[in-house]
Amino acid sequence: MSLLESIGEQQATALARIEAAADTAALEQVRVSVLGKKGSLTALLRGMGAVPPEERAQVGAAVNTTRDAIEAALTKRQQLLAQAELDARITADAVDVTLPGRAHPIGTQHLISRLTDEIVEVFRGIGYRVVDGTEIETDYYNFTALNAPPDHPSRGLQDTFYVVDRSGDEAAVQGESDVLLRTQTSGVQVHTMEDQELPIYILAPGRVYRRDTADPSHLPQFTQIEGLVVDKGITFGDLKGTLDYFCKQIFGPDRKTRFRPHFFPFTEPSAEVDVSCGICGGAGCRFCKGTGWLEILGCGMVDPNVYGYVGIDPERYSGFAFGVGVERVACLKYNVPDLRMLLEGDMRFLRQF
Ligand code: DAH
Repeated sequence: MSLLESIGEQQATALARIEAAADTAALEQVRVSVLGKKGSLTALLRGMGAVPPEERAQVGAAVNTTRDAIEAALTKRQQLLAQAELDARITADAVDVTLPGRAHPIGTQHLISRLTDEIVEVFRGIGYRVVDGTEIETDYYNFTALNAPPDHPSRGLQDTFYVVDRSGDEAAVQGESDVLLRTQTSGVQVHTMEDQELPIYILAPGRVYRRDTADPSHLPQFTQIEGLVVDKGITFGDLKGTLDYFCKQIFGPDRKTRFRPHFFPFTEPSAEVDVSCGICGGAGCRFCKGTGWLEILGCGMVDPNVYGYVGIDPERYSGFAFGVGVERVACLKYNVPDLRMLLEGDMRFLRQF
């Protein structure tokens, strides 16, 4: 076969292989094997030295034409295959924009936190400040300075969790610890009267603990809000007006309040406050056990004995205190039949509020 024939055959073979290349990688292999350093056409060009001088121009021209033809075919095929590969990738990677997105549910405040804030806002609006107490408290602040010295019968009303040191202190292990989980927020009254300047208008929300088994009307852990006012000339009338205002703000303007005499060691006189039943309007129904009234909080005038513990002169100052259970208010406001529902965290229940 003459050299020219061999060039023609190379061109035909190369063009056929280019046409047959299925993807850009295969095409690149064809390019290297024809035009690369060790490619077949490159080898032909190298062999030009052996071509007789009178044939060189013609052979050279033939090689150039062949190379141009092959390069043009490579470029064309390259574009075609690259486009096909791009199309395939776009199809494969396609995002279905009609799929629904993944929802991230937004959390909300628990009913009790919200109601606590609501009550705090009512009192802030009439000049009260919020103070914090601690859930771990000493016997002195939870009982003694609230006029319930050791052996006082009122201590028995609130079964207490004691914090005991298990590291070997025998006295503590036997339950003689002075440290406890507070059974009421009333201890904050003592801290506040010890620490703060008079007059005092404070509110102290927080969690309290009692050794009770959870049932529809008891929880071992619940939320109280303590209120304390100490100023010159404070009377029981101020207490009544304040708590009546509070009840109307929380339950609605048509609700009535009544004060029943009661006993708390740290107030004298003491009272329990009832609010008229929102279901029957006071006529009597199952919710209010036929009485027309629902008990919501305890209160009273600060007992002079308590002033004795904190060094306030009861001749110059007087005041009142109250303590309200937030879970109880929630039950009455939203007709929740069982306190335990407020502690369980069942979303089907909580989402209603
Ligand atoms: N600490 C009382 C309790 O847990 C509630 C209470 C009653 C608080 C009368 C007061 C008060 O401040 O004056 O049962």
